Amino acid sequence: MNQIKNRRSFLAKLFMGVGSILAYGAFAVKGLLFLSPKRGIKATKKIFVGTIDQFKTGSVETVHGLTGQEILVQRTQETIKGFSATCPHLGCKVHWESDKDRFFCPCHGAVFDSDGQAITGPPADAGQNMTTVDLGVDDSSGIVYLQEKISA
Ligand code: FES
Repeated sequence: MNQIKNRRSFLAKLFMGVGSILAYGAFAVKGLLFLSPKRGIKATKKIFVGTIDQFKTGSVETVHGLTGQEILVQRTQETIKGFSATCPHLGCKVHWESDKDRFFCPCHGAVFDSDGQAITGPPADAGQNMTTVDLGVDDSSGIVYLQEKISA
């Protein structure tokens, strides 16, 4: 009788010990996963820019991103593109000249074609084209959005 009682006591302690190890182990793993930074996950956020109707074909409109940066939105027959309005040379504001079908930076007379490629001026000499901005259009709603990468 005493042997049975000892065996039950031993088995109960064994199961409690194994159960405790498993429970604390799972808790420790969850804690480490919670505290460790997520790697390799790149998120983007979509920022409302407008609706496709407000950008007329052949036009370039200025909009602003979340941090206030100016973005030149160019709509063509086939596509909609975005360019940073900040000149790649020294950071002046580039604007669109519709009568000449080009972007122009007044600070040092730089000219960029309608694709943002530098033609004349210091940016052309340095091979600095306008910076493109990632725009998207939701086909069902016609909403134009700016996609910005979120650094983790
Ligand atoms: S800042 Fe635009 S050309 Fe120099």
